[in-house]
Amino acid sequence: LERTFSIIKPDATRRNLTGAINAKFEEAGLRIVAQKRIQMTKEQAGVFYGVHKSRPFYDELCEFMSSAPVVVQVLEGENAISKNREIMGATNPADAAPGTIRAEFAESVGENSVHGSDAPETAAVEIAYFFSGLELVG
Ligand code: GTP
Ligand code: MG
Repeated sequence: LERTFSIIKPDATRRNLTGAINAKFEEAGLRIVAQKRIQMTKEQAGVFYGVHKSRPFYDELCEFMSSAPVVVQVLEGENAISKNREIMGATNPADAAPGTIRAEFAESVGENSVHGSDAPETAAVEIAYFFSGLELVG
């Protein structure tokens, strides 16, 4: 089984959508094997999204991600990384397929409710950024 890293973003925690989004993961066969609610500093969000440092939306993204609590989680399942990307939907909710999390819940291309790792290497780095080995039970 594969693991991926997920964040329920501030726009979704503000609107009390944690349970509704988790239901989507579980319906799709993804198991939530680790989960906690935290609030990042702008600096911590900046390191997490460091790959986007040179993008025009970077500052806005780091402000947003540190503006309210998020739920960080590890999801496990068959092809968890691609399955999660599929049920998240496209980055811009206007382009997201019907039934996806972003189609149903996202507010804009920036405030788009969820993050999901895009490859095994990034999943490993992202999980290790937020969770210790002791927090990762099967
Ligand atoms: P993540 O799972 O969060 O990484 O989303 P993604 O992989 O679908 O998109 P990408 O990695 O390209 O962008 C990371 C995040 O930056 C997005 O999820 C958005 O929150 C934000 N973002 C991307 N493009 C824009 C944009 O044009 N404007 C703004 N304000 N934010 C953007
Ligand atoms: Mg991405």
